[in-house]
Amino acid sequence: MLIRRPPDISESEVTDQGLYLNRRQFIRKAAAAGAGLGLATGLSPIAACGGEAGGADDGGASQVDELTPHEVVTSYNNFYEFGTGKDDPARNAHTLRTRPWTITVEGECNKPGVYDIDGLLTRYPAEERIYRLRCVEAWSMVIPWLGFPLADFIDDLEPTSHAQFVEFRTLHDPEQMPGQRRSVLDWPYVEGLRMDEAMHPLTLLSVGLYGEMLPDQNGAPIRLVVPWKYGFKSIKSIVSLRFTREMPLNSWAETAPDEYGFYANVNPEVDHPRWSQKRERRLGELRRRPTLMYNGYGEQVAHLYEGMDLRRFF
Ligand code: MTE
Repeated sequence: MLIRRPPDISESEVTDQGLYLNRRQFIRKAAAAGAGLGLATGLSPIAACGGEAGGADDGGASQVDELTPHEVVTSYNNFYEFGTGKDDPARNAHTLRTRPWTITVEGECNKPGVYDIDGLLTRYPAEERIYRLRCVEAWSMVIPWLGFPLADFIDDLEPTSHAQFVEFRTLHDPEQMPGQRRSVLDWPYVEGLRMDEAMHPLTLLSVGLYGEMLPDQNGAPIRLVVPWKYGFKSIKSIVSLRFTREMPLNSWAETAPDEYGFYANVNPEVDHPRWSQKRERRLGELRRRPTLMYNGYGEQVAHLYEGMDLRRFF
């Protein structure tokens, strides 16, 4: 897999998990000093979100972003195709066959077709991005993803002027994905983004994490990562992408429309009907911390939703 990274991050830093620990210490120190992390470390500017939010009114909770340990990221998962327990995917997802793997592109674009994963990996070198993932269930992680901007792929597909949304689908194969034998959801898992969300530079097609190929339980071989939205938008093991005029009906909005919407922007002010979204538990920490608007990416994305009633479009 090709990995593109900022020039001052060496190969060993990306491939050696041990060095992430050093980086964590560095991040902690730099954040304490109030440094502009992203640029100082050569990490993605997104990492700079760490430390920025610790204002007087944050309940005293630290907002320093430490990477969530690799073993937690790969063992505490939501991937209902392999069971509904958090530890089911790590135990069961080995039945997924990730090669050969293609993404079928359909709908409102000039370049529909069947795109092979290895062709995509060659064409779009993966870069490292450290993003927070905030699950709607109020836990969160900080993950060093490897991936490429979805916008790069979409640009090459030449969407027509009628394309308003992109719909994504996960593989549907109960033989490989035994959880699909139970009707927990109306399979396959479907998600969607508005075109401007899909084209946003933060939106990633991820193919790896912690310097290695994406583990099966994390959505191998290719998944979406949309860091300012609740985790359920980040659809795993994608096999199709369709440009549409109409807003796609995403799986969770279909299953529980009072609880889950299409937008799913992280918003501490809009509670889930059954629990508050004001705070979250970063996995690996005991104390709960305040949830940040747009998961802390407001500066980059708030303009996308200007004038929208976020209580109605949740
Ligand atoms: N994609 C599919 N196909 N099936 C799923 O059950 N769960 C979602 C999302 N993508 C899910 C999915 C939810 S609820 C979350 S929080 C994230 O994946 C979890 O990603 P992770 O296991 O890599 O942390």
